[in-house]
Amino acid sequence: MFEAKRFNLPSLDGISDESVKQHLALYEGYVKNFNALSNLLPELAKDPEKNMHPLAEIIRRRSFEFGGMRLHEHYFPQFEGGPTPVPTSGAFYEAIVKEYHKPEWLIEMMKAIAAMRGPGWAMLYWDPESKQFLTGFTGEQHQGHFATLPIILALDVWEHAFLLDYGATGKGTYVDAFFKNLNWSMIEKRFDALQ
Ligand SMILES: [Fe+2]
Repeated sequence: MFEAKRFNLPSLDGISDESVKQHLALYEGYVKNFNALSNLLPELAKDPEKNMHPLAEIIRRRSFEFGGMRLHEHYFPQFEGGPTPVPTSGAFYEAIVKEYHKPEWLIEMMKAIAAMRGPGWAMLYWDPESKQFLTGFTGEQHQGHFATLPIILALDVWEHAFLLDYGATGKGTYVDAFFKNLNWSMIEKRFDALQ
């Protein structure tokens, strides 16, 4: 069984307290639903032929719920401690410069991915094996991840992240607010832990 984590979030600039409150409630729903589906599995697995369809659906939905849980556990801590600027020195900065020339270009890439249609996440991973970043779009919560790669930055671009504050067409404004509130030292810490 998994338990919902608590986050020490400051008031955000451009993302309202009410929006954050509702978003946290959605996060807790992923934890609850992952646990609920997990509880159903053992009984259904006793007769896979009879339970073929619910079993298949539950197995698929479980990774969706797990993704929703874990991705939000990457998302919210990125605001903890308040915003800090993009690093201008150190290993993380050097790795960004090597691939993106300057941090602004990495941010532009993340914004381009965030602008993609459909519910999902703009993601930045680090591949410790090849020592390079990978950026990508995770559809829903669980599709399109780069297998095994640890997450450096997770930007939620589901409508629930911005609808309340900016309406259905406000994703771009929300993404700007996300970066305005981002604690880059938290992102750097994730990178440093993998070196
Ligand atoms: Fe979300």
